[in-house]
Formats: sequence, C-alpha cells, structure tokens
Amino acid sequence: MPGNSFGELFRITTFGESHGPMVGVVIDGIPAGLPIKKEDIEFELSFRRPGRQFVTGRREKDEPEIISGVYNGRTTGAPITILVKNTDVISSLYEEIRYKPRPGHADLPYIMKYGFENWDYRGGGRASARETVGRVAASAIAKKLLMLTDTWIASHLKSLGYVELNEPVTFEEVLCSKYSPVRASKKWLEQKYEELVKQATIEGDSWGGIAEIIVRNPPIGLGEPVFDKLKADLAKAILSIPAVMGFEYGLGFSAAKMRGSEANDEIIKKGDRYGWKFNNSGGILGGLSTGEDIVVRCAFKPTSSIRKPQKTIDLRTGEETTISVIGRHDPAVAIRGVSVAEAMVSLVIADHAMRAGYIPTVRISDDQIKIIEERWNKYISLCKPTQESQ
Ligand SMILES: Cc1cc2nc3c(=O)[nH]c(=O)nc-3n(C[C@H](O)[C@H](O)[C@H](O)COP(=O)(O)O)c2cc1C
Repeated sequence: MPGNSFGELFRITTFGESHGPMVGVVIDGIPAGLPIKKEDIEFELSFRRPGRQFVTGRREKDEPEIISGVYNGRTTGAPITILVKNTDVISSLYEEIRYKPRPGHADLPYIMKYGFENWDYRGGGRASARETVGRVAASAIAKKLLMLTDTWIASHLKSLGYVELNEPVTFEEVLCSKYSPVRASKKWLEQKYEELVKQATIEGDSWGGIAEIIVRNPPIGLGEPVFDKLKADLAKAILSIPAVMGFEYGLGFSAAKMRGSEANDEIIKKGDRYGWKFNNSGGILGGLSTGEDIVVRCAFKPTSSIRKPQKTIDLRTGEETTISVIGRHDPAVAIRGVSVAEAMVSLVIADHAMRAGYIPTVRISDDQIKIIEERWNKYISLCKPTQESQ
C-alpha cells in the first residue's frame, strides 16, 4: 500500500491503524539544532484530541513519544519518529460493519481493492482519521521552523451545516478559535454551532462544514512553476485529508461567476513593497506566493457513521439490508478536521520555504534558535483567548 509519505524536503511518513497499538510519523529532512519538546507537539495535538464535548467520545490522551532524531532537546538532523499510543480501543463496536460496509465510508472500496481477508475493519483501520495524528504532530515542527520567517498559520470553522460566518474576522480571533470547543472564531457563532451539533447528536445524524486556513506573512515566491505550484501542493495536501470534498483559495469557486473587472486585484504600494488591494488571489499568483496572506478553504462532508438507518449490503448473504452505525463518532468531522487542515498547510509551507532557501536544510544557528523560541512562546500565548476576546 504505497502513498504514505508526503513532502519533498520536509518529508513525512505516517503509520498505524485506528485500533492497532499506536499511530505515528517519521519526519525526514529536518535541520539539526531545532529545539523540540514533547510539549510543543502536545500543544498542537491537544486541539485535534478526541473525547471532548461536541466531538467523538473516544477518550485518547494523545501523548506523543519522541523516539528518534532529538538529542538534548534539539534535532540532530536524523529522521524524527513520534509515536502516539492508542489507549481507548473498543473493536467490538465494529463487528457489524465488518459484514455491512458503511455508506459514505471507505469500507467497501478497501474490501474491493485489498480483499475482505486483508481489510482491518477495526475502527476504520488505515482509513480512520486517527492516521492524521502523525500529520498534526509533524506540524508542530513545521510551525517552529516557520518562526524563522515570522510566518504564522491559523484556522477556524467558517461554516457548519447552514450556519456561516459572513463578517470580517481578525487573525487573532482565528488563532484563538483553537480554544473554542467547536472551532468558532466568534462567541455568537460558537453558540449556533453547538446547537447544531446537539441537534445532530439527538437525531443520530451529522453535519458538514468549511474550514478556513490563513497563513500570515508567508515568504514571497514559495512554489515552483508548473506541477509543483504552491496551489497544487496545497490542494493535494488538503484533499488527502479524510472527508475533505472541496478545496479553494482566495476567491475560489466564486471567481467563476465574476467578470475580470471584479475579480482582478489592483496592484498598489504597501509601504516599501508592492501589494494587492484585496488579495482576491488568496496570496498565490502563477503558483507562487505573493507575500499577501495565503487563504485556503476546504469543505468537509458530514460524518458518514450515523445512527440513522441507511441501506447497505450484508456481505454474508449478498442481500440488501440496513445499517445503523453505533459506536463513538464525530457528529461533525469538520470540527476536529480544522486542526488537520491547518497542519497540512503548515507542512506544505515549511517544505516550500526550505525548497526556496528561507529555512536552512542542514543546521540552525544559535541566533536562529533564539528567534524561534521567542516567537514560538509568543504564538502559544496569543492562541489563548483573553477576557476581552471572549
Ligand atoms: C478529524 C476527523 C475525524 C473523523 N472522524 C470520523 C468519525 O468519527 N466517523 C466517521 O465515519 N468518519 C470520520 N472521519 C471521516 C472518515 O475518516 C472518512 O470519511 C473516510 O475515511 C472515507 O474517506 P473520504 O470521506 O475522504 O472518502 C473523520 C475525518 C477527520 C478529518
């Protein structure tokens, strides 16, 4: 089963299944000298963690163990391996889906491709979003490297079901949405999202949603012309996330209904550099970053595992039947999916910043370490909502 690795210079390989002993990631290409603590990784993982209100009831501590590539608190330049043990596994809840593939899930395509006898049905196996733990763990390292260029990445849930945020939002509000249980960037929105999730849970149903990811102060010129355009790599990264059905950046799909005179963005002077009036292109033109905020959105479908009975086939008899999926599932995968989308954007931006020479590929100097640590601490403190922002 190939296709488990991603990135060119900042390269990750994820491993593990939902109900296996652990999941994790091997990260290759990280320069020596980067300070990395277990807490840095835990910080990012905590926003993807299950077992809270409004998300799946599976209670995982998601405690990362760094088992290679870090010595005396700094990277050595060797591959970094991070493990996260699966501790709350109840495979018996999946006995029914073993013979009754879930509508909207990967069960039947996996059986058709790899064979029934080779399919790890427990918790969705490799198709489970448990796999994304490794991606989020790696993103802490990507974000720390990006502190060198003072590049910050934040995300929020722009819409859930039919409720959508249609008013301006500040970068600080987006950062603080990390601490919202439903990833809302405004208090009023949080309440609406929570009501929707409660309603879906009662009805045994689920909702889809749209995540928005913003890259503040990206280096200029990230991306390579033609196949490795920044937009192309971002699209692949985002569409590799389970349950993502759509990708757009800047004006995105709305550009298709506009005229050139509306969609074109006038070029203006911004201090000592050139810039664009509205950033309609979402920070990318010609596949290269322009230096404006990179703005990406992705659509998550509603969770497919729902209690509402739906048609499927009983593989033992070959006859049509129904399935009502029991077990612990996210009522809206988009809520935890926001962190995964943010992680994937971080990996792409860090990879391209290394490719473009903004981040050293061999060794980080002591002066650079100081800058990284100062900015990282600032990032962590700015994510915490203040009294006024609540
Ligand atoms: C963070 C996250 C959590 C998810 N949780 C669930 C879940 O609890 N139940 C479920 O059926 N699908 C869940 N999914 C989605 C499935 O993994 C996904 O729909 C499935 O692998 C099929 O892939 P596809 O939807 O991309 O075609 C989750 C996705 C993400 C990103």
